[in-house]
Amino acid sequence: MKIDVIGLGYVGLVASACLAEEGHNVTGYDTNTKKLKSISSGDIPFYEPNLNELVKLAIQKQTFELKKIDKYENLFADAIIIAVGTPLSNMGTLDISQIQVAIKWIISNYQNLPFIIIKSTVPPGTGEKLISQYPELANKYISNPEFLREGQAISDWKNPDRIISGSKNLEGNKCIEKIYENYTAPFVHSDITSSEMIKFASNAFLANKISFINEIANLCDKLGAYVDDVSKGIGLDPRIGPNYLIPGVGYGGSCFPKDVQSLSDLSMTHLQSFDLLQSIITTNQKQQLMPYFYLSEKFDNLQGLKVCVLGLSFKAGTDDIRESSSINLINQLSNSGVIINTYDPVSINNSKKVLPETVNFFDDPFDAINGVQATIIMTEWSEFQNLDWKKVYKSMKNPKIIFDGKNYLNQKLIQDLGFEYFAVGRKIKSQK
Ligand code: UDX
Repeated sequence: MKIDVIGLGYVGLVASACLAEEGHNVTGYDTNTKKLKSISSGDIPFYEPNLNELVKLAIQKQTFELKKIDKYENLFADAIIIAVGTPLSNMGTLDISQIQVAIKWIISNYQNLPFIIIKSTVPPGTGEKLISQYPELANKYISNPEFLREGQAISDWKNPDRIISGSKNLEGNKCIEKIYENYTAPFVHSDITSSEMIKFASNAFLANKISFINEIANLCDKLGAYVDDVSKGIGLDPRIGPNYLIPGVGYGGSCFPKDVQSLSDLSMTHLQSFDLLQSIITTNQKQQLMPYFYLSEKFDNLQGLKVCVLGLSFKAGTDDIRESSSINLINQLSNSGVIINTYDPVSINNSKKVLPETVNFFDDPFDAINGVQATIIMTEWSEFQNLDWKKVYKSMKNPKIIFDGKNYLNQKLIQDLGFEYFAVGRKIKSQK
């Protein structure tokens, strides 16, 4: 099929490269010339494992070409994917203006209106609103939300759990079935608003699981229970499932925080109080700052305390720092006068743009750890798990605190070395 993709950010570029690899003819459009140049020369502007290679190969094989959004005459495509950003506006709602611009551009540049597949995350009800603005879209508009996780986007694309298509007619469903004809995942065909709701409800439900296990972990700390065992025990119930039950310093990223907030706002707009969503958010805000609360309790004054924060991205496998727990924590610690050293394998450049100038960035974790009183792990990079902890112990100053914000270090090893170990819901000494 001839598939055009508008918006070569994270989702658009992954979609383009994977569709091209599957044999479709893909043209990627973007407004940003610098980005287009950089992608064409084999340098994608963000970190996603294996994506650079996949994009390069598709460009070489000429199954993927890049073009600037401009005035063209009589463009043709079987389908167009819109994958532009929908950031949170100052009003707290999702800003869909980039989608509107893309739709206007499609209407005036394509000879026949192709199917328009919306992958950008939009609040439920958006598709119907757009159709009432542009009635010619009615039989062409398809909501096809993505569920790609950063850091694993290519494998998520290739192994979807389900493929959702929300449209007004059978042709829309058929178009999606044709694009994904080689996939074994079940299709869910629905109306447009339900499809949009599936995306929001999925992300809110996962965020809910995380905030829930975080509150359980906090209670475990009070009661002397061990949250890893609790998590395992409840996750074995197939009605609950084991995923998204890892406690720690809360969730971040470009999706969960934005989508939960936006769903909450949407329910308020419809005069339905959905209190649970606000609780998920409040728990998460508290959880992101857990190491700060811990240090504030431990020390009378945080002024001048030397701390190393390991990990800046919102999770491992990405250089994305949007709504990252680490960034929020560092800002809070820095406001309290803490001296901060930090290291991350891929996110330093992004973080330098947003963190205070007083933060010290290092290219090597041991340089960052040297001489600090506490080390806080905020991102679950495997290289932190595999650090030479004996060496870390020697280079830190008393009281040698390790705050494991991801509950993923070998607690026994760390405690046996003599560190003061703290995590979330792991207060009792590990026997394992
Ligand atoms: C998410 C959704 O998973 C994906 O389907 C959607 O399309 C985009 O948003 P992503 O933001 O890439 O993907 O990250 P994800 O792996 O889901 O993790 C989100 C956050 O939750 C991270 O900060 C992560 O550290 C945290 N998390 C995840 C936990 O704290 N505990 C868990 O058990 C799982």
